[in-house]
Amino acid sequence: MLVTSVVGARPQFVKLAPVAAALAARGIDHRIVHTGQHYDERMSEAFFTDLVIPAPDHNLAVGSGGHGAQTGEMMIRLEPVLTEERPDWVLTYGDTNSTLAAAVTAVKLHLPVAHLEAGLRSFNRRMPEEHNRVMTDHASDLLLAPTQLAMANLTAEGLAERSLLVGDVMTDVCLRVADTVGAAVLPPGVDPASPYVVATIHRAENTDDPDRLAAIVAALQSQPIPVVLTAHPRLVAKCAAAGIALEGGAVRVVAPYGYPEMVAAVRGAHAVVTDSGGLQKEAYLLGTPCTTVRTETEWPETVTEGWNRLDPHLTMTQSWSDPGAPVSTGPRDAYGDGAAADRVAAALAARARIE
Ligand code: UD1
Repeated sequence: MLVTSVVGARPQFVKLAPVAAALAARGIDHRIVHTGQHYDERMSEAFFTDLVIPAPDHNLAVGSGGHGAQTGEMMIRLEPVLTEERPDWVLTYGDTNSTLAAAVTAVKLHLPVAHLEAGLRSFNRRMPEEHNRVMTDHASDLLLAPTQLAMANLTAEGLAERSLLVGDVMTDVCLRVADTVGAAVLPPGVDPASPYVVATIHRAENTDDPDRLAAIVAALQSQPIPVVLTAHPRLVAKCAAAGIALEGGAVRVVAPYGYPEMVAAVRGAHAVVTDSGGLQKEAYLLGTPCTTVRTETEWPETVTEGWNRLDPHLTMTQSWSDPGAPVSTGPRDAYGDGAAADRVAAALAARARIE
């Protein structure tokens, strides 16, 4: 049996790591196609090295572009690869343009498609990720859901028969890496023994309106404790275009962290401020309170369990930088037991087509 994973953006490399290991452990042939959506060394190659992921078998080198151009170019370049390989499963991950391109290309070639991290919904139709999730789920043959809530969303859309609860593979990788990392690597002047915040901002809804971006940067800069801002290329590019200085006040800008560096920094942090989906969960798993700079989250369990709060305008500044901020003391087990990737491998093996 051959599984072909299609990935392209940073969070997909993180999810790929435990899945690649689980497929290898079961002796399942696995090929990796990298669309090239993310191409900077720190956004891509570093993850393959740090997380010991086999090098991609194909790199489509699509790069940046508008949604149509980027997604379309991926489909054009992916079609001959999948036509040649004819895998038993095309495995797609998450909610990026690479996810959608893989699902649409595969389904039109009559190749079975599995979607990992199926069923997440923000119900915000303005998010490109929401378009990608909904369309990928409805195009796919097997929907591998991380949570009960994701299963309920799929059921509500009439997709229950194709859905399977496997747990969250990001828990697998986060817990495994947390066992191995040492102290946080912080920029000069930030003392790991004193309270600091780890921040990331990259979503189009936060970066693409200059007024909104300026307000978020100003809120981060005005904090009473250091804010270590790991700057996504989109954030840097949008700030430069809008004439906004990122560095200033409490903010110390660092290049994007690798995965182990991020785990170490978050584990040692007083708080996380982010608009990333994955980081909300990593903060929860590592026991660090999170403020999410959005109006909704696909991971509401982090909010209901008291580890995450939605603050789209960063108005509750005191509550997230105040060292006394209260958090829940529950077991933090909403995202599975760390063995989701093996369930994914087992599900693919059990449902492979027989020719
Ligand atoms: C994409 C995903 C988003 C995910 C994020 C993780 C979509 C629609 N969005 O957003 O869901 O949370 O990845 O990071 O697929 N750039 C570089 N170097 C890179 C990558 C990007 O300079 O290696 C810059 C370019 O200016 C590019 C911009 O970042 O135009 C945006 O990159 P893109 O891949 O289009 O979307 P992300 O914002 O990274």
